[in-house]
Amino acid sequence: MKSLYENEMKLEFLSKSNNEAFARISVAAFASQLDPTIEELADIKTAVSEAVTNCIIHAYEDNEGVITITCKIHENSIIIEISDNGKGIENVNMAKEPLYTSKPDLERSGMGFTIMDSFMDSLEVESILGLGTKVTMKKTINKENSEETKELEGKVFSSFKI
Ligand SMILES: Nc1ncnc2c1ncn2[C@@H]1O[C@H](COP(=O)(O)OP(=O)(O)O)[C@@H](O)[C@H]1O
Ligand SMILES: [Mg+2]
Repeated sequence: MKSLYENEMKLEFLSKSNNEAFARISVAAFASQLDPTIEELADIKTAVSEAVTNCIIHAYEDNEGVITITCKIHENSIIIEISDNGKGIENVNMAKEPLYTSKPDLERSGMGFTIMDSFMDSLEVESILGLGTKVTMKKTINKENSEETKELEGKVFSSFKI
Protein backbone atom coordinates (compact mmCIF):
# COMPACT_ATOMS: atom_id res chain seq x y z
CA MET A 1 0.00 0.00 0.00
CA LYS A 2 1.31 3.41 -0.91
CA SER A 3 2.04 5.61 2.11
CA LEU A 4 0.39 8.99 2.47
CA TYR A 5 3.82 10.35 3.28
CA GLU A 6 6.53 11.11 0.77
CA ASN A 7 9.24 10.09 3.22
CA GLU A 8 9.47 8.53 6.68
CA MET A 9 12.14 7.54 9.17
CA LYS A 10 12.25 5.88 12.57
CA LEU A 11 14.87 6.06 15.31
CA GLU A 12 15.09 3.99 18.50
CA PHE A 13 17.67 4.69 21.15
CA LEU A 14 18.28 4.38 24.89
CA SER A 15 17.34 7.18 27.26
CA LYS A 16 20.93 8.23 27.93
CA SER A 17 21.63 11.95 28.05
CA ASN A 18 24.34 11.56 25.37
CA ASN A 19 21.60 10.57 22.93
CA GLU A 20 19.81 13.93 23.22
CA ALA A 21 22.29 15.53 20.78
CA PHE A 22 22.13 12.44 18.53
CA ALA A 23 18.33 12.74 18.32
CA ARG A 24 18.29 16.49 17.73
CA ILE A 25 20.93 16.32 14.98
CA SER A 26 19.38 13.26 13.29
CA VAL A 27 15.93 14.87 13.07
CA ALA A 28 17.51 18.10 11.78
CA ALA A 29 19.39 16.14 9.10
CA PHE A 30 16.14 14.44 8.00
CA ALA A 31 14.24 17.77 8.04
CA SER A 32 16.90 19.45 5.91
CA GLN A 33 15.44 17.85 2.74
CA LEU A 34 12.57 20.38 3.09
CA ASP A 35 15.14 23.15 2.68
CA PRO A 36 14.33 24.94 5.96
CA THR A 37 15.83 28.26 6.98
CA ILE A 38 18.46 28.20 9.73
CA GLU A 39 15.82 29.55 12.10
CA GLU A 40 13.28 26.84 11.21
CA LEU A 41 15.95 24.18 11.71
CA ALA A 42 16.89 25.69 15.08
CA ASP A 43 13.22 25.62 16.13
CA ILE A 44 12.95 21.91 15.24
CA LYS A 45 16.19 21.08 17.08
CA THR A 46 15.05 22.93 20.21
CA ALA A 47 11.63 21.25 20.22
CA VAL A 48 13.14 17.77 19.74
CA SER A 49 15.68 18.45 22.44
CA GLU A 50 12.95 19.43 24.93
CA ALA A 51 10.83 16.35 24.14
CA VAL A 52 13.75 13.92 24.33
CA THR A 53 15.05 15.49 27.56
CA ASN A 54 11.57 14.97 29.05
CA CYS A 55 11.71 11.26 28.18
CA ILE A 56 15.15 10.94 29.78
CA ILE A 57 14.43 12.96 32.93
CA HIS A 58 10.73 12.43 33.59
CA ALA A 59 9.59 9.28 31.79
CA TYR A 60 12.40 6.94 32.81
CA GLU A 61 13.89 8.90 35.73
CA ASP A 62 16.67 6.73 37.19
CA ASN A 63 15.94 3.79 34.90
CA GLU A 64 16.85 3.34 31.28
CA GLY A 65 14.30 2.79 28.56
CA VAL A 66 13.75 3.11 24.85
CA ILE A 67 12.82 6.38 23.15
CA THR A 68 11.28 6.15 19.69
CA ILE A 69 11.16 8.96 17.16
CA THR A 70 9.33 8.78 13.88
CA CYS A 71 9.45 11.59 11.34
CA LYS A 72 7.16 11.86 8.36
CA ILE A 73 7.29 14.30 5.50
CA HIS A 74 4.11 15.31 3.74
CA GLU A 75 4.30 18.06 1.14
CA ASN A 76 6.31 20.78 2.88
CA SER A 77 5.52 19.72 6.45
CA ILE A 78 7.37 17.53 8.91
CA ILE A 79 5.51 15.52 11.54
CA ILE A 80 7.66 14.38 14.45
CA GLU A 81 6.45 11.80 17.00
CA ILE A 82 8.53 11.22 20.12
CA SER A 83 7.39 8.45 22.42
CA ASP A 84 8.48 6.58 25.53
CA ASN A 85 7.22 3.66 27.58
CA GLY A 86 7.88 5.44 30.84
CA LYS A 87 5.79 6.53 33.78
CA GLY A 88 3.26 8.65 31.91
CA ILE A 89 1.66 11.97 32.84
CA GLU A 90 -1.25 12.12 35.26
CA ASN A 91 -2.66 15.45 34.09
CA VAL A 92 -1.53 16.49 30.62
CA ASN A 93 -3.29 19.88 30.70
CA MET A 94 -1.54 20.77 33.93
CA ALA A 95 1.83 19.53 32.63
CA LYS A 96 1.47 21.77 29.56
CA GLU A 97 0.94 24.91 31.65
CA PRO A 98 3.90 27.34 31.41
CA LEU A 99 6.21 27.06 34.44
CA TYR A 100 4.65 23.78 35.66
CA THR A 101 7.31 21.27 36.64
CA SER A 102 7.12 18.16 38.80
CA LYS A 103 10.85 18.48 39.50
CA PRO A 104 11.52 22.00 40.85
CA ASP A 105 14.36 20.48 42.91
CA LEU A 106 16.26 19.70 39.69
CA GLU A 107 15.92 23.34 38.63
CA ARG A 108 13.69 22.47 35.71
CA SER A 109 12.12 25.56 34.19
CA GLY A 110 8.74 24.02 33.43
CA MET A 111 8.87 25.60 29.96
CA GLY A 112 9.50 22.49 27.82
CA PHE A 113 5.96 22.06 26.48
CA THR A 114 5.54 25.82 26.06
CA ILE A 115 8.71 25.92 23.95
CA MET A 116 7.58 22.94 21.82
CA ASP A 117 4.20 24.60 21.33
CA SER A 118 5.60 27.97 20.29
CA PHE A 119 8.47 26.72 18.09
CA MET A 120 6.34 24.22 16.17
CA ASP A 121 3.00 24.78 14.38
CA SER A 122 1.17 22.20 16.48
CA LEU A 123 1.75 20.07 19.57
CA GLU A 124 -0.28 17.10 20.78
CA VAL A 125 0.49 15.16 23.96
CA GLU A 126 -1.05 11.75 24.60
CA SER A 127 -0.18 9.92 27.79
CA ILE A 128 -1.33 6.90 29.78
CA LEU A 129 -0.19 6.70 33.38
CA GLY A 130 2.23 3.79 33.83
CA LEU A 131 2.41 3.10 30.09
CA GLY A 132 4.06 6.08 28.47
CA THR A 133 3.76 9.30 26.55
CA LYS A 134 3.65 10.31 22.91
CA VAL A 135 4.35 13.86 21.77
CA THR A 136 3.40 14.74 18.18
CA MET A 137 4.63 17.99 16.66
CA LYS A 138 4.16 19.39 13.20
CA LYS A 139 5.89 22.19 11.35
CA THR A 140 5.39 23.52 7.85
CA ILE A 141 8.63 24.64 6.27
CA ASN A 142 9.23 27.64 4.06
CA LYS A 143 5.60 28.72 4.10
CA GLU A 144 6.20 32.17 2.63
CA ASN A 145 8.64 30.98 0.02
CA SER A 146 6.37 28.20 -1.16
CA GLU A 147 3.41 30.56 -1.41
CA GLU A 148 5.54 33.04 -3.40
CA THR A 149 6.68 30.21 -5.65
CA LYS A 150 3.11 29.10 -6.25
CA GLU A 151 2.10 32.66 -7.05
CA LEU A 152 5.01 33.00 -9.46
CA GLU A 153 4.21 29.66 -11.09
CA GLY A 154 0.63 30.85 -11.52
CA LYS A 155 1.79 34.01 -13.26
CA VAL A 156 4.19 32.15 -15.54
CA PHE A 157 1.46 29.64 -16.38
CA SER A 158 -1.13 32.34 -17.14
CA SER A 159 1.34 34.20 -19.36
CA PHE A 160 1.50 31.09 -21.54
CA LYS A 161 -2.25 31.08 -22.01
CA ILE A 162 -3.40 32.55 -25.30
N1 LIG B 1 7.75 12.08 28.65
C1 LIG B 1 7.27 12.41 29.86
N2 LIG B 1 6.98 11.43 30.76
C2 LIG B 1 6.49 11.73 31.99
N3 LIG B 1 6.24 13.00 32.41
C3 LIG B 1 6.52 14.00 31.56
C4 LIG B 1 7.04 13.77 30.25
N4 LIG B 1 7.19 14.97 29.64
C5 LIG B 1 6.78 15.89 30.52
N5 LIG B 1 6.38 15.34 31.68
C6 LIG B 1 5.79 16.04 32.85
O1 LIG B 1 5.36 17.33 32.41
C7 LIG B 1 6.00 18.35 33.20
C8 LIG B 1 6.25 19.58 32.34
O2 LIG B 1 7.23 19.34 31.35
P1 LIG B 1 8.08 20.56 30.79
O3 LIG B 1 7.13 21.61 30.32
O4 LIG B 1 9.06 20.04 29.79
O5 LIG B 1 8.83 21.12 32.07
P2 LIG B 1 10.11 20.53 32.86
O6 LIG B 1 10.73 19.43 32.05
O7 LIG B 1 11.03 21.70 33.01
O8 LIG B 1 9.60 20.02 34.17
C9 LIG B 1 7.25 17.69 33.74
O9 LIG B 1 7.69 18.33 34.95
C10 LIG B 1 6.78 16.25 33.98
O10 LIG B 1 6.06 16.15 35.19
MG1 LIG C 1 11.10 19.57 30.06
